[in-house]
Amino acid sequence: MAPAIYHLLSFLLYFTQFTVVLSGTVRRAGSTCTVQASVNGSDDAPAILEAFQMCGKDGSIELHDTLYHIETVMNTTGLSNVRIDLTGTMLWGTNLTYWISAGLPLNYQNQTTAWALGGDQVVFDGHGVGTFDGNGQLWYDLTDGVSNFPGRPISLMIVNSTNSHYTGIRFVQSQFWTLAITNSTDIVMDGIYVNSTSNSSVPATNTDGIDILFSDKITLRNWTVTNGDDSMSVKANSTNILIQDAVFHGGLGVSIGSIGQFNGVFEMIQNVTAEGVLAIGSNYAGYIKTWTGVQQGFPPNGGGGGLGFASNITFRNFTLQNVTQNVAMITQCTSFEGATGDCDTSLFQLSNITWGPGITGTIQTDTLATLQCSGDAPCPGISILGLDEVTSIGGSEVKCSNVVNPIGFNCTGST
Ligand SMILES: *[C@@H]1O[C@H](CO)[C@@H](O)[C@H](O)[C@H]1NC(C)=O
Ligand SMILES: *[C@@H]1O[C@H](CO)[C@@H](O)[C@H](O)[C@H]1NC(C)=O
Ligand SMILES: *[C@@H]1O[C@H](CO)[C@@H](O)[C@H](O)[C@H]1NC(C)=O
Ligand SMILES: *[C@@H]1O[C@H](CO)[C@@H](O)[C@H](O)[C@H]1NC(C)=O
Ligand SMILES: *[C@@H]1O[C@H](CO)[C@@H](O)[C@H](O)[C@H]1NC(C)=O
Ligand SMILES: *[C@@H]1O[C@H](CO)[C@@H](O)[C@H](O)[C@H]1NC(C)=O
Ligand SMILES: *[C@@H]1O[C@H](CO)[C@@H](O)[C@H](O)[C@H]1NC(C)=O
Ligand SMILES: *[C@@H]1O[C@H](CO)[C@@H](O)[C@H](O)[C@H]1NC(C)=O
Ligand SMILES: *[C@@H]1O[C@H](CO)[C@@H](O)[C@H](O)[C@H]1NC(C)=O
Ligand SMILES: *[C@@H]1O[C@H](CO)[C@@H](O)[C@H](O)[C@H]1NC(C)=O
Ligand SMILES: *[C@@H]1O[C@H](CO)[C@@H](O)[C@H](O)[C@H]1NC(C)=O
Ligand SMILES: *[C@@H]1O[C@H](CO)[C@@H](O)[C@H](O)[C@H]1NC(C)=O
Repeated sequence: MAPAIYHLLSFLLYFTQFTVVLSGTVRRAGSTCTVQASVNGSDDAPAILEAFQMCGKDGSIELHDTLYHIETVMNTTGLSNVRIDLTGTMLWGTNLTYWISAGLPLNYQNQTTAWALGGDQVVFDGHGVGTFDGNGQLWYDLTDGVSNFPGRPISLMIVNSTNSHYTGIRFVQSQFWTLAITNSTDIVMDGIYVNSTSNSSVPATNTDGIDILFSDKITLRNWTVTNGDDSMSVKANSTNILIQDAVFHGGLGVSIGSIGQFNGVFEMIQNVTAEGVLAIGSNYAGYIKTWTGVQQGFPPNGGGGGLGFASNITFRNFTLQNVTQNVAMITQCTSFEGATGDCDTSLFQLSNITWGPGITGTIQTDTLATLQCSGDAPCPGISILGLDEVTSIGGSEVKCSNVVNPIGFNCTGST
């Protein structure tokens, strides 16, 4: 072989190996696919997708490198009997223009996600260390407090899923809502750590810990949530939801809703229990919010006129430390930002909602509860049990409108 050609071939061989080693790769052994991160910080999503393609049925996906860069959206749905182990960090990229245009749809409120994940019998184990880092500060600064900025993606959407378990996963600096579970049944998520904290002067708006939609039999246990919006939120068509043993730092507490945003659309929430919660500096223990009956503007930031009901909701065994507003809050007055009035127009029916027993601790106002039910759909079956165990700053007001036969408390004024 002529020396020139030899040198060219060895150069090409070297170059080929070099590029292969640089980008993310999948090593497969039987039904186990191990993803090796790129060494030059290029996008690892293609390798991760390939691993799910090869081992996403009756297999396992292993993510054990220190850092995986995710620069493109991932859709890994239709999995079955798969185990995912993550002990490193997945870091979402900084090309906000890309994410805004490329997000996968939640099919609700015009929201999108960076990763749609789902299937039957999915076990996702972060072993207490595996981390999702959404690079959220860029999003907090970009949106500067504007609510529901179009295309700002949910970190992880669990979708079309059954019989699945997510455990020991950390989510930091989420881009938007941290998690959404939608169209899913029999999902347990435990040992979950969420922390979205802005380090600039703008708030970490819309960084909900989790939103549950169109789902049945969901258990959230042993969570720690630090964020700037709903700590956990149960939204449209969610049933049989159990929240147990959580610590909230800031945030709004456990939210039911908002709901009733879509004019003429019927949605419901039934059988939600939240217990064993420590709320530190959160706005509320349990918060229920519906849109008014009069549509103003369009979703996601406007709307109203939705129909349906929320029933059999229980918040019990909460410890409150410096909760900033109230123990119990109902509003049926949610409306387009800046719009006012129509608070008695919602036809969305709230009933059988209980705070207590076992709610203790401190709030930083003189108003223990603010319960504003719609004049057009007064609320029966509202109970607040053992409210005298909560220390407020002076007064112990309970402001009510359209609460039918309060149980365990007296209204001291109107909202
Ligand atoms: C960011 O993403 C947009 C849209 O996909 C693309 O046109 C642009 O080239 C990307 N920018 C960088 C620096 O990669
Ligand atoms: C994800 O992929 C599945 C299967 O290919 C497809 O049916 C689904 O529409 C995709 N979802 C999104 C949000 O793109
Ligand atoms: C919905 O989101 C897309 C981007 O994902 C945006 O272009 C559009 O304006 C949004 N629509 C509304 C009504 O906000
Ligand atoms: C919900 O998920 C199931 C699969 O689990 C699928 O058959 C069904 O079509 C999905 N429904 C919607 C509205 O996405
Ligand atoms: C969920 O399943 C439905 C029906 O098969 C499909 O249309 C939808 O795209 C799936 N969602 C995702 C995110 O894959
Ligand atoms: C709660 O979750 C944390 C973080 O994953 C874990 O270290 C701890 O053991 C869990 N506690 C219980 C009681 O399961
Ligand atoms: C949340 O993150 C911030 C900023 O990194 C940190 O100061 C704070 O201690 C964390 N909170 C919890 C509860 O881990
Ligand atoms: C209500 O939800 C709880 C979980 O919190 C569950 O144990 C119970 O079976 C559900 N009730 C009904 C009637 O489905
Ligand atoms: C919610 O569930 C109810 C009762 O099953 C159903 O009638 C309604 O269509 C669902 N709403 C949506 C938006 O899918
Ligand atoms: C109502 O909530 C209680 C307490 O969580 C639960 O035990 C019961 O099963 C629920 N009933 C219905 C009909 O959902
Ligand atoms: C209240 O919740 C705490 C924390 O999860 C738990 O240790 C305690 O046993 C619960 N108490 C009751 C009476 O359920
Ligand atoms: C509650 O607030 C008071 C007064 O601002 C402060 O002294 C106390 O340390 C706070 N307690 C907690 C648990 O944050």
